[in-house]
Amino acid sequence: MLKIALIGYGKMGRMIKQLSEQRKDIEIISIIDPQDVSCFAAINEESLKDVDVAIDFTYPGAIMENIEAVAKLGKNMVVGTTGWYDKIDTVKEIVKQNNIGFIWASNFSIGVNLFFKMMGNASKLINRFDDYDIYGIEMHHNQKKDSPSGTAKTIGDILLKNIDRKTEIVTERLDRQIKPEELHISSVRAGTIPGTHIVGFNSPVDEIQLKHTAKGRAGFANGAITASKWIEGKKGFYSIEDMMKDIIVD
Ligand SMILES: NC(=O)c1ccc[n+]([C@@H]2O[C@H](COP(=O)([O-])OP(=O)(O)OC[C@H]3O[C@@H](n4cnc5c(N)ncnc54)[C@H](OP(=O)(O)O)[C@@H]3O)[C@@H](O)[C@H]2O)c1
Repeated sequence: MLKIALIGYGKMGRMIKQLSEQRKDIEIISIIDPQDVSCFAAINEESLKDVDVAIDFTYPGAIMENIEAVAKLGKNMVVGTTGWYDKIDTVKEIVKQNNIGFIWASNFSIGVNLFFKMMGNASKLINRFDDYDIYGIEMHHNQKKDSPSGTAKTIGDILLKNIDRKTEIVTERLDRQIKPEELHISSVRAGTIPGTHIVGFNSPVDEIQLKHTAKGRAGFANGAITASKWIEGKKGFYSIEDMMKDIIVD
């Protein structure tokens, strides 16, 4: 039984706790959230006692301090919190110095990571067929603060890397004709949409669409749980791509 500490008891922390209650292979033995009186207030020896892996879903302002505190206590860590990627080299150093195992992802959904993989294969094929133009659409709830989504940016990077005739992503409204080398990814914000990403390959005679639709937060939470099991007993710095390579046999 894998013993987990949750750091951050917000929307994601609660979803992981809820899913863990339906499983027999993991147990949440500690929850750390300074604002919640039912939780431990800080990361320390007491709150991480007997913990195998700590899962962090907090916020950018707290994450560096949290990583340092968990690493100093020699515990492995799964980080879903976003907004620290400019400090990736510092984090690699902390992981190395404290000899822990660490895995991060900007999107822990296994489905989205499969979608990235499919996008890689599809874009390599489309690269050989000049008749197809390419576009992307991402849709999210009306509370989302950023656009385009991080997932859409990753999709854009994959498409640009593999399709020679596209050299630039444009995301804003265009008050002019789009250039052939540009690839338009547009954002829609409405209601409670958890997250939908569509990529279209459009030719004069047909259209191929690939679409990922998140039904809620459970996909992220399940992916983070899978990552906590994967990082158990490992040492070193990993991203979800390393885990996906391991679990996809192709
Ligand atoms: N990688 C992925 O797949 C994925 C998926 C979804 C979300 N995320 C990211 O994960 C993060 C959390 O998302 P969320 O939707 O769960 O946000 P949320 O509902 O705001 O939850 C964050 C929780 O962490 C608490 N917290 C803040 N500082 C803390 C600290 N130092 N130690 C422990 N807990 C602390 C917050 O308390 P207060 O509210 O009282 O400050 C809040 O309860 C965000 O960065 C988000 O972008 C990543």
